[in-house]
Amino acid sequence: MSQNNHTTHPPARADSAPTDSASAGSALADTRAPAHTDPASAKADTANTHSSTSADSASAGSALADTGSSCPSQASPADAPAASAADNAPADAPAAECSHLDKLKTHPQAQIKHAIAVVSGKGGVGKSLVAAQLAVALRRLGFAVGVLDADITGPTMARAFGISDKLQACQDGIIPQESSGGIKLVSTNMVLPDESTPVLWRGTIISNLVRQFWSEVLWGQLDYLIIDLPPGTGDVALTIFQSLPLDGAVVVSTPQDLVAMIVAKAINMAQMMEVPVLAVVENMSYYRCECCDSVQRIFGPSTVENLAHNYTIEHFAEVPITPTYTHLMDTGKAEEIDISSLSELAGRLASA
Ligand SMILES: Nc1ncnc2c1ncn2[C@@H]1O[C@H](COP(=O)(O)OP(=O)(O)OP(=O)(O)O)[C@@H](O)[C@H]1O
Ligand SMILES: [Mg+2]
Repeated sequence: MSQNNHTTHPPARADSAPTDSASAGSALADTRAPAHTDPASAKADTANTHSSTSADSASAGSALADTGSSCPSQASPADAPAASAADNAPADAPAAECSHLDKLKTHPQAQIKHAIAVVSGKGGVGKSLVAAQLAVALRRLGFAVGVLDADITGPTMARAFGISDKLQACQDGIIPQESSGGIKLVSTNMVLPDESTPVLWRGTIISNLVRQFWSEVLWGQLDYLIIDLPPGTGDVALTIFQSLPLDGAVVVSTPQDLVAMIVAKAINMAQMMEVPVLAVVENMSYYRCECCDSVQRIFGPSTVENLAHNYTIEHFAEVPITPTYTHLMDTGKAEEIDISSLSELAGRLASA
């Protein structure tokens, strides 16, 4: 995958801003702030936030208000370019591609070389498992990896990676949490008082928070940022496809025809928005019997090869139903899972 330098994009132009162009800063800092709040002033407002999470919710801000954390010392990407396996672009490569010119900038102290969204038109098909495992596989390959949990109302990533600490803010921005394996992570649960607190925010605030997770987090230098999307093709998917300079999307499906039909909507959406679909992953593709090693196609024959073929998607992978995956994801041990098909896929994406 050729390198993109997401820090070098010029600021989003007024004429290209998404229709609900409230500032990214308003969501975390003070969710009651008017839509035109300046991000810089919004951060100062965190001292005035509440701790409820209802429609006038300001609890995201309150979690960050009093942290007083010192900012991590990070060399500016311009001063210290990452030297990693993913850094294979020629020295004279253009700093940014034309298709990225209108996109949201990252924080000045962040350099995200590749951003990949994990999507599906359908809920519960295993997006979060696939997103987590792509992140883990890329990390095992030696890359600097982050995970942005864009499922604002149903976040699962903090739990999957065993992180219960809250996000901290310093004067420069938001400091992501880090897993034991070194994956940086932001998720709504890290700003809620409790992981069972419901998030009752309207679409604009949710979209703003996603933007803020992109542009105000001190990600440092990442080779890959994996973005876990909520189900469907609604507000958040639109925001991410429109506003973030994605390298592409990985689409998650399951073998049922009904699911394939809905997943096709996500593929079509990505293609309509000129986001390349890098791969399609068929989750719960089969079950391998632990006793006799036979493969059982519980949900019917695989449809992934056809799906990939029909939509000219270069890569595809199958993930088996494996009860230990559920258990490990539920107990914060996502980094102990090793799914060979996703490791191979991560390797292919990294070398593409
Ligand atoms: N291949 C698998 N084997 C066993 N369990 C799985 C598998 N894939 C997913 N699961 C489990 O199924 C549940 C749903 O998966 P997951 O949360 O990843 O789906 P999702 O598409 O992200 O859901 P949502 O649309 O709600 O975000 C989780 O408990 C997860 O651990
Ligand atoms: Mg999910």
